[in-house]
Amino acid sequence: MENENTQFTPMPRIGDKAPEFKAVTTQGEINFPVDYDGQWVILFSHPADFTPVCTSEFITFASLEKKFSEANCKLVGLSVDGLYSHIAWLRTIREKIEYKGMKDVEVKFPLIEDITMSVAKKYGMIQPGESSTKAVRAVFFIDPKGIIRAIIYYPLSLGRNFDELYRVVVALQTADAFGVATPADWQPGDDVIVPTAGSCGVAKERMDNKTDMHCYDWFFCTKKLDKEKVFKTILKK
Ligand code: BEZ
Repeated sequence: MENENTQFTPMPRIGDKAPEFKAVTTQGEINFPVDYDGQWVILFSHPADFTPVCTSEFITFASLEKKFSEANCKLVGLSVDGLYSHIAWLRTIREKIEYKGMKDVEVKFPLIEDITMSVAKKYGMIQPGESSTKAVRAVFFIDPKGIIRAIIYYPLSLGRNFDELYRVVVALQTADAFGVATPADWQPGDDVIVPTAGSCGVAKERMDNKTDMHCYDWFFCTKKLDKEKVFKTILKK
């Protein structure tokens, strides 16, 4: 007899390999994350087609797709609706809906059908306290090696901030490319955080302002990183 434990699928965590799956999407079949080797990818879920918050999100995300793509980041959506529902909804969005000046919006990224909820369950997108029949608004940031680097979950009622999702992609890529961390509310062009000094000598040099860094204390030093340098490094040529 199956008990609660045998049904339990652990939720993926930051640093885990993205769980693999094959699925049917509005752009054909995908083999995830293998098809995205060498690229960043955002796998995100929405609760249901033909609902207002999700519609506002899809129009917004689709309008930003080029911007994400230029940062080498592809988008993949998912809900537990079927393929024909997805197709009809995306057609309605394109043909009928104008939202905040965005109109004729074509969703060109794949939208996964997941009527069995198998993918949604693998990714912890079904959170029964919120809904056992719909996915929450999950966002998984997956790097070019297929590793989950950040995860954000929102409840059904709360539309996501897509500028924040872009900021996360740029911040993760900046951290990788320059070996730095990014402080609170960081935006490209703001100072970045350098790793803590490995020895007292280096820490003293920093505190004595003998480097190009600004140190608030021995464990908290920042340096300038031009916005142009960030975007020249991360944007696809
Ligand atoms: C919405 O997208 O508007 C929505 C979907 C499911 C539950 C609540 C709101």
